[in-house]
Amino acid sequence: MSPRTARFALDPAFAVGEVDPRLFGSFVEHLGRCVYTGIYEPGHPGADAEGLRQDVLDLVRELGTTAIRYPGGNFVSGYKWEDSVGPRDERPRRLDLAWRSTETNRFGLSEYIDFLRKVGGEPLLAVNLGTRGVQEALELQEYANHPGGTALSDLRVSHGDKDPFGIRLWCLGNEVDGDWQTGHKTAEEYGRLAAETARAMRQQDWREDLKLVACGSSGQGMDTFAAWESTVLQHTYDLVDYISLHAYYEEHDGDRDSFLASAVDMESFIENVVATCDHVGARLKSKKRINLSFDEWNVWYQKRPNPHPVEDWQEAPRILEDVYSVTDAVVFGSLLIALLRHADRVTVACLAQLVNVIAPIMTEPGGPAWRQTTFYPFAQASRYGRGRVLQVNVDSPTYETKAFGEVPLLHATAVVDDETGAVTVFAVNRSRTEALPLEVGLLGLAVGEVVEHSVLADDDPEAVNTADSPDRVTPHTVDGTGIEDGTLRATLEPLSWNVIRLA
Ligand code: AHR
Repeated sequence: MSPRTARFALDPAFAVGEVDPRLFGSFVEHLGRCVYTGIYEPGHPGADAEGLRQDVLDLVRELGTTAIRYPGGNFVSGYKWEDSVGPRDERPRRLDLAWRSTETNRFGLSEYIDFLRKVGGEPLLAVNLGTRGVQEALELQEYANHPGGTALSDLRVSHGDKDPFGIRLWCLGNEVDGDWQTGHKTAEEYGRLAAETARAMRQQDWREDLKLVACGSSGQGMDTFAAWESTVLQHTYDLVDYISLHAYYEEHDGDRDSFLASAVDMESFIENVVATCDHVGARLKSKKRINLSFDEWNVWYQKRPNPHPVEDWQEAPRILEDVYSVTDAVVFGSLLIALLRHADRVTVACLAQLVNVIAPIMTEPGGPAWRQTTFYPFAQASRYGRGRVLQVNVDSPTYETKAFGEVPLLHATAVVDDETGAVTVFAVNRSRTEALPLEVGLLGLAVGEVVEHSVLADDDPEAVNTADSPDRVTPHTVDGTGIEDGTLRATLEPLSWNVIRLA
């Protein structure tokens, strides 16, 4: 028995919860080149009749993203939805204060719905509670969802959208706790506004599947963290379904070991928000449970200088175009594991963002589209991470980090598909230098063979995919992973993301 072996046991009787498909959501914001020359580029040789890039549509389908949040982000706090509908040539050009860009509104609400229909995504629309309020949210809801026979629903029909958009999931503003937000508010101010907006939206649409997300903190590090959630939920508890969480991770001062353990922070963030929600629920003597919408998460190098020249009020500037390495993909995979490990309470999550802007898919205007390293963990988790998450308590060798103290080298979760009996283990080895032997006890699971052990790892942890080398980094399969006497045995390469599929 090697002392460096990591182990855990799986038992279908001990589950965390069912994975909500909305856990594999993503995010399209009017920011940089996410929309323009990202998903929408009418002059592109591969664009369809509506100007959507078909190479990007193919990659979005392959990624397997579900709910797609729109139109922001910070952008939504100055958003006038009326600008983004109707004949394209009559839509106004506006200043976008959030990203100091010019918004042409060539792509708007109807184009977003067309995009969703083509990729099989679900709308997750944010309303502007920065500079606007209850009335505008109601008008947007009427335009989008009412079948017809009223001024705004008939306006939609006159714009060519006969069928209502059927939006069931809405964000009540964005990061209103942050002083960078246009229309930033205190928790009291926002809590009241969110409650009244939610109440009015429910007056207009009282069906049970209308789901509303109140803004939580923009990060666990905010001075107002937890107090914000508590105050906001005190006002909105009976009126909303989710509270939001946002978190971005990057390497600080060359401290890679802490960066590799970023999911420790993500898991504590989730658990602290769950505790806060349940505390408010207890205070209100409520039986209702508020779930979590982790509607912005990713690796984001906020401190890196932008290599591209950008002018104020430029259209679709090259901003936030992070290029992700193998190391980033391993951290990213670990963040996915953290979300799955809390699937009982995190029932919506959005990878921020989808194309070009801190994204798994990159494009060149007039040129190709390609997959970043982070594309692979997301696509695999979305494809194989459906079913019931099983409890995983690891017994693992550890390593020391500056930010989080002693951290297990193994980070793992497992999902069982109860219909087929298939089990998928998702595991990250955080060691930069050593392979990690893994043993998994399979108690009461009807699995006898390893279908595939797929690995994302590389001799060069800085390796990236680019337009010129789009397939420099891809997952590979490894041999030697097997099941014997009810135990799965594998070796996890140093600094690796692993998907082990059992049938
Ligand atoms: O995703 C980029 C930005 O990060 C979003 O616009 C904002 O909500 C967050 O601060």
